[in-house]
Amino acid sequence: MNTTIAQLLKSNSYEQEIFVSGWVRTHRGSKGGFSFIEVNDGSCLKNIQVIADEALPNYKNEIQSITTGTSVTIRGKLVSSMGKGQPVEIRATEITVLGYCDTSYPLQKKRHSFEFLRTIGHLRARTNTFGAVARVRHALSYAIHSFFNEHGFYYVHTPIITTSDCEGAGEMFRVSTLDLMNLPMQAGQIDFTHDFFGKPANLTVSGQLEGEAYATAIGKIYTFGPTFRAENSNTTRHLAEFWMVEPEAAFFDLPALMNLAEQFLKSILQVTLHKCPNEMDFFDTHIRPGLLATLEQTIVKRFETISYTDAIALLEKSGTNFNFPISWGSDLQSEHERFLTEEIVKGPTIIYDYPKEIKAFYMRQNDDGRTVRAMDVLIPGIGEIIGGSQREERYDLLNQAIIQKGLDPEKYWWYLDLRRYGSVPHAGFGLGFERAMLGITGMENIRDVIPFPRTPKNADF
Ligand code: 4AD
Ligand code: MG
Repeated sequence: MNTTIAQLLKSNSYEQEIFVSGWVRTHRGSKGGFSFIEVNDGSCLKNIQVIADEALPNYKNEIQSITTGTSVTIRGKLVSSMGKGQPVEIRATEITVLGYCDTSYPLQKKRHSFEFLRTIGHLRARTNTFGAVARVRHALSYAIHSFFNEHGFYYVHTPIITTSDCEGAGEMFRVSTLDLMNLPMQAGQIDFTHDFFGKPANLTVSGQLEGEAYATAIGKIYTFGPTFRAENSNTTRHLAEFWMVEPEAAFFDLPALMNLAEQFLKSILQVTLHKCPNEMDFFDTHIRPGLLATLEQTIVKRFETISYTDAIALLEKSGTNFNFPISWGSDLQSEHERFLTEEIVKGPTIIYDYPKEIKAFYMRQNDDGRTVRAMDVLIPGIGEIIGGSQREERYDLLNQAIIQKGLDPEKYWWYLDLRRYGSVPHAGFGLGFERAMLGITGMENIRDVIPFPRTPKNADF
């Protein structure tokens, strides 16, 4: 049976016969009639050193031709290493080359820039950094599912193709089977009755609206799926395709939601730190020194909560010259969010009760007539990682808000129905999964924490 290197290093299978397979990181011959081959199989950061003796039958014609990138299977024994740098190594009794790798292989043993690695997205997972990112992504996903499962939230699969615009911002990718060179027209307009769904359809920007239908039926739910935004934002924080985690809970108000967000973030962070100690050490050493100390702080410190109105006052009082001037009513730009969380609070911060003009139609109106029960969680180094709100559960007010935002209430008929039939207070949020990945790994660019990033003018691989 094949063992992964991760399993092997945990086990104590000394002197037993073992099989390991993987890709060669380095190969060097020695004068003493040995080859030292470093193999990595992606199961963990560590390589295993393999000693190949020239007495092996294929030593001359195969083993000596092994280069960086070659895939191999090794049969041998795990022994204590005499050399420095590794406690154990494999003394090979058989080495089978599965696939040779020529010198055009771009991942030769040296440091590569992340920009370069983005151009070889199909190979970059074989590097230490991207292997570690992939394993942390797995651990974080798993922690998210566990958290909700343990807290009574049901996992609901909301549609990826949808005919409603959740955020009402119109930043959607059209899904259509119409022939672009020959569009069916009716009175100067495209006639979507000929399209696949008989009407305009899009890739979803959020599973929230459908999530609410399930929360107002089975209580507490969450979605965790890909979402798509056709916004032309070429920043280190934006993707056109990203994954969002969206819990929605009936009988929840905004304070309960803020509490949930804090408990949730702390829990998934703690679990991931626990599950990936070597990867986290790697990020702390090679990617962002001080990362672990910051994350440990995040787990113990209470998140600060500040109303939008107070946040604006703090920003104005700071006397800082922002690129985007700030005053009550303006949306917080990334520079303001970062100033609040990095300079003023110096830790995770929840801003709540935003002006209704800058938020989506579905948020619950406050009695002041000018703010809504929204909340965003901001973290140092990134800014917003969570956006959420208590939802408007009052039919008339919701209907009004839809109209005021210039949307068509008829398109939201089913969403309004949730308020017509047994409406209840409820609330939910969306966590940008890749933004959470940035926070946990300390990686700089969101393109490097998703396997195959999609951004404006870029959908390779
Ligand atoms: O604040 P947003 O737009 O909220 C919603 O979509 C709500 N429907 C969520 C809800 O209440 N159920 O997006 C939520 C989060 C943001 O806080 C951010 O972390 C992330 O999604 N996000 C993006 N991440 C990467 N690339 C983008 N283009 C993103 N846009 C939003
Ligand atoms: Mg938001």
